[in-house]
Order: sequence, then C-alpha cells, then structure tokens
Amino acid sequence: MAYTSSKQKAAKADSSPQGMWSSRWLFVLAAAGSAVGLGNIWKFPYIAGENGGGAFVVVYLGCVLLMGIPIMVAEVMLGRAGRGSPVHAMRNLAGAAKASDFWQLVGWLGIGAGFLILSYYSVIAGWALFYIWQMASGVLDAATPEFANNLFNTFLGNPLQLMFWHTLFMVLVVWIVSKGVVKGLETAIRWFMPLLFVLLIILLGYSAQSGGFEQGFNFMFGFDWSVMKLDGFLVALGQAFFTLSLAMGAIMAYGAYVPKDTSIFSTITTVALIDTSVAIAAGLAIFPIVFANGLDPASGPGLMFVTVPLAFGQMEMGVIFGTLFFLLVSFAAITSAISLLEPLLAYLVEEYNAKRARVATSMGVICWILGVGSVLSFNLWSDVHVAGDLTFFAFVDYVTQNIMLPLGGVLIAVFVAYVLPKSIVAEQLGLNGGVKELVWNVLIKLVAPLGVLAVFIYTLYITLYLPYLA
Ligand code: PFF
Repeated sequence: MAYTSSKQKAAKADSSPQGMWSSRWLFVLAAAGSAVGLGNIWKFPYIAGENGGGAFVVVYLGCVLLMGIPIMVAEVMLGRAGRGSPVHAMRNLAGAAKASDFWQLVGWLGIGAGFLILSYYSVIAGWALFYIWQMASGVLDAATPEFANNLFNTFLGNPLQLMFWHTLFMVLVVWIVSKGVVKGLETAIRWFMPLLFVLLIILLGYSAQSGGFEQGFNFMFGFDWSVMKLDGFLVALGQAFFTLSLAMGAIMAYGAYVPKDTSIFSTITTVALIDTSVAIAAGLAIFPIVFANGLDPASGPGLMFVTVPLAFGQMEMGVIFGTLFFLLVSFAAITSAISLLEPLLAYLVEEYNAKRARVATSMGVICWILGVGSVLSFNLWSDVHVAGDLTFFAFVDYVTQNIMLPLGGVLIAVFVAYVLPKSIVAEQLGLNGGVKELVWNVLIKLVAPLGVLAVFIYTLYITLYLPYLA
C-alpha cells in the first residue's frame, strides 16, 4: 500500500497532505464506498415504492446522468486541483482564479452538512447493526407482521438501546478513520466493498427464486407516469445527490487524494454505475420479497426495517440471509460514514496540524452527542418540534438534504463553469475541443446548475411560502 508520509509528501509536489490513493481502482472503491450506503439500500427502494416504481426510477436515472455525474466530476476535479480539505481546496482555487474568498463557503457547507448528516446517519446505521443481531438470534423466525412491527416500534421507543447501537457504530467509524484516510480507508474498503457485492449477488439469487420476481421487476421497470407528481421529480433529484454523496465535501475530500494521471471522467462514470447498480439491485432484491409475501411496497421508511426482516423470517434459511442482508447494509453505511467525517478531519489536520486520531475521537464525540438528539426524536422527544412539525431528526435531515445540499451543488457547478480558469478545467479533465468538451460544457454550465437551482427554489417555496397559504 502506497501510503505517503508527510516528509515524502513535502518532497513530492502535487500530492495531498493526507496521502494518496495507491491506485485508480482504490479511488473507485473509496468513492463507491462513500456513494453506496443507506441511501441505496434503505432509502431508494422505499422512495421508489412510494413514488410509483418505474416512472420514478427513470427520472432518478436521468438525474444521475445529467446532474449527478457532472457535479461529481466537478467535485473530484476541485479536490484534485486544490489538493486539500474542501475548505483548503476551495481557498486555493479561488486564489488561483483571483476570485473572492467567499467560495470557501462551498467547503464549509460540505463540512457542515457532512457532520450533521453523520449524526443521524449513525443512528439509522445503528438500527441496521441491531437487526444483524436480531436476525442472527432467530427471533424473527416465522414472525407475524404484528410481531415485526412491534419489535421495530419497541426498539425505536427505547432510547438506551438506540443509543447503544448508535455508539457502537460511531466507535467503529472513528476507529477506522483514525488510522488515516488512505491507510484506514483502503484497508476497510478493500474488504467491505467486494464483500458487499458478493452479499448482494447472493441475495439477488435468493430473491429471484422467491416467486415474486416478475412482479418486483415489473414494479421497478414498468412505467406508470400517472403516479409521478412534481414532488416525485424533486425527490428523485434529491436522492440522486444524496446517493452519490454530492455537495457534502466527501467526494471533494477524496478527490484530493487522486493521482494526477487518473482520468476523472471514466473513474466517476464507473462510480456512478456501481452506485446505481447497487440501488437497482437492492430494489430488485427487496421488491420480489415484498410481493411474494403480500407486503406493501409503499410502506415508507419501515420498508427495510419491518417488512424485510419479516419476509426473511418467513423464509427457509431466512436467518442466514437476513443476517447477511443487514451485515451488507451496515458495511455500506460504515464506508459512507467514513466519508462524511473525512472532510472535517482533513480540514482540522491541515489547518491546525492536529493529530488525526485525537481529532477523529473528539469530532466523533461531538457528532455522537448531536446524534443523541436524533435518538430521542424517536421516543422521548417525539413531540418536541424544532421547526414547524419537524422533530430534531427530521429538522437536521431537512436542512441538510433540502437546503445545504442543493445550495452546495449549485455553487460547485457555478464555480467550475464560470469562475475557475478554463486552463485548470481543461488540464484536469483532458479537454481539447470536440464532442466531449461540448457535452461537458452544456451539462456543467446549463443543465446541472439550472436543474438543481429549480429544486432549491421549489424547496424554498414549499418551505417558506406554502405554509402561509394553508
Ligand atoms: N451516499 C450515501 C448513501 O447513499 O447512503 C450517503 C452519503 C455519504 C451522503 C457521504 C453524503 C456523503 F457525503
């Protein structure tokens, strides 16, 4: 493993203070590790279920292709050209462009959003850890829907239990991240990602023989535009961003460790392809099980935590496959959570020359404390509304996903398209006229910023204006 020490780094120009990925493939795994997470396996199937299946899937794929990929390419490029944490990278590049220091805000937005998201992401990932344990113990064997529902609700109602699994998850993340991004991550990712794919393929194979495959397949790929509303488009775009880990500094931070000669376009296309395949595979694994058991595909966030354990509990060898499923989800969540913490750590280490392990621990503790607010939102504080009718958890989720994320996305696209010197972009992306450059320009100058801006404005409209009309 080619971890570069600080001294070596000083001697070597154009590298990151945190080390470099030792190969293109490791960057692909790391970025895919960040992208593939609860968003793909937990969220995608349930929101596809809620938004009518096929039509939603098509819109989502369009958003990934037209807005997600260009902004992801832009982020990696900013990280690599700026060679530093998102704040440092943006500071360096704004300097190179003789632009205002204001652009650092992109880095800060990313760091802030990542940290806030991690606080609740850890809580939900803790649920997945809890279910590994539940599935393995066999309590869900031949369980009735009432039992599965009760188990989930009783679990949600117990703050100490939620806290325990939230703590365990956070400790795991801090432990891996402390080892240094390149060293810790590469080792973790080398194991997690391939294992995750193997588990998913096993699960798909199982699902294919569950008796509901055709129905599940038709649900995911059969188009019914009549069920698609404007909100569905917005949910699809938000999901495309969340699932690709965009506008949160994560991909920019990882971009800083990408060697100079790696092709960003082909790498990012591979990452987006992996991410999308996992989401589709997760849907194809879950929906047949849902249909084979006469369950409701539109049952919302509980889809994974109530219906899937129930379905596995009803099946032969369900203990093994159910345990594997939640192991898979937890692996995916860990590699995403690592990337949520990395931008902040990179900033603190670079700015204050702080010790990585110490910073990781203290930031982990603060994030854990914030997460307690989310834990309590499901029980003791379920009636406490921070804003409107939003609990603490829903508020953090709302502000990050609907405000910080699209704002960051628009700023990134605008910076790359209109502020960053063209020579830097051309050099980073290997542009030399032709169709590739034309397509890139149309996407980054028009389609991506305008598309995301539209979502942002609509979100502000429904948040700030609609309540007054009601
Ligand atoms: N992309 C991850 C998922 O789909 O679960 C979540 C995520 C990770 C979002 C890292 C943002 C991020 F920076």
